[in-house]
Amino acid sequence: MRAKIIGTGSCLPDKTATNEYLSTIVDTSDEWIQSRTGIAERHLVSSETETSLSMATEAGRRALSDAGLDPKDLDLIIVATVSSDFITPSLACMVQRGLGAPHATAFDINAACSGFLFALNTVDAYFQAGIYQNALIIGVETLSKIIDWADRTTCVLFGDGAGAAAVTASEEGMIASLQGSDGSGGDILLCKSRSNNNPYISTSKEPGYLFMDGQEVFKFAVKKEPECILSILEQAGLTVEDVDYFLLHQANYRIISSIARKLKLPLEKFPSNVSHCGNTSAASIPILLDEVNRAGLLSKGDILLLSGFGAGLTWGAALLRW
Ligand code: COA
Repeated sequence: MRAKIIGTGSCLPDKTATNEYLSTIVDTSDEWIQSRTGIAERHLVSSETETSLSMATEAGRRALSDAGLDPKDLDLIIVATVSSDFITPSLACMVQRGLGAPHATAFDINAACSGFLFALNTVDAYFQAGIYQNALIIGVETLSKIIDWADRTTCVLFGDGAGAAAVTASEEGMIASLQGSDGSGGDILLCKSRSNNNPYISTSKEPGYLFMDGQEVFKFAVKKEPECILSILEQAGLTVEDVDYFLLHQANYRIISSIARKLKLPLEKFPSNVSHCGNTSAASIPILLDEVNRAGLLSKGDILLLSGFGAGLTWGAALLRW
């Protein structure tokens, strides 16, 4: 049995921050941000009650409702995130409590922007092994809390939000999967955790903020993602022409259009929401999937290729029949 997505959901904070607004905080401009990234605005949480947990739970609830699946029928919940509200317990356990899914095993995955794909591939592996039947996968980020809002090189790029997919074990669905990591590139995109305050160590109490070497990440993305796409298609014996939609990690429209160009494909095959969401890391692919699904763009039998890259470094792809 393979993983088949039977419902999608998402949850974005109400508040949006436009490029114009950010240019009142840091030395930037709408023209710079739009021309480098395609981002016009991003959603940001704006109250203590709007959290990774609240967004993840709501996106999960919407995906289950779309699928017509009762939370009590879930036997697996995986949350992909790098910005949980808790070090422990996992966000997935807290979502389990919020949804009322007592029979599910729940845990988190940290694979940055590839997290949703790692989670989907993990669910598919469980299903192939016959271990579970119904899963909920959520990608969620509140990146705004790990961003240095005085650093114009990162604060204009990221946004908050959650996306989810309800998945069931089925004869058809996933066609192929691929994932990988290269820890030697860990330093080009990282966020350190809290410092140790035990009696023997005297370290700085500064909170960790996200650091990124933008140009190195850009080079990695435009090389790795096309390789991933071609490799997963080869695995499945398909070509780029067989794919109806490429749902790529929404980091930057320049990266997406460069990939379309490399594959010699029209941009219409690459739906994008980066202009209004920015980069929402693990949430980006499931938010996009939900938008495309709810817009009625997907027909039964369509071939979708999901692919992404991120800190780690990590990368992943999933080829599936809708
Ligand atoms: N507004 C205005 N100027 C800015 C700026 C901002 N928000 N951020 C950086 N700049 C400045 C830099 O300081 C630099 O100025 P200098 O030439 O005087 O030193 C200039 O713009 C060019 O900076 P550079 O970093 O070379 O820009 P770039 O063309 O590489 O674009 C990114 C920067 C981040 C948009 C681009 O590298 C990128 O998209 N990288 C990939 C990021 C990504 O996808 N991350 C997520 C991975 S999951």
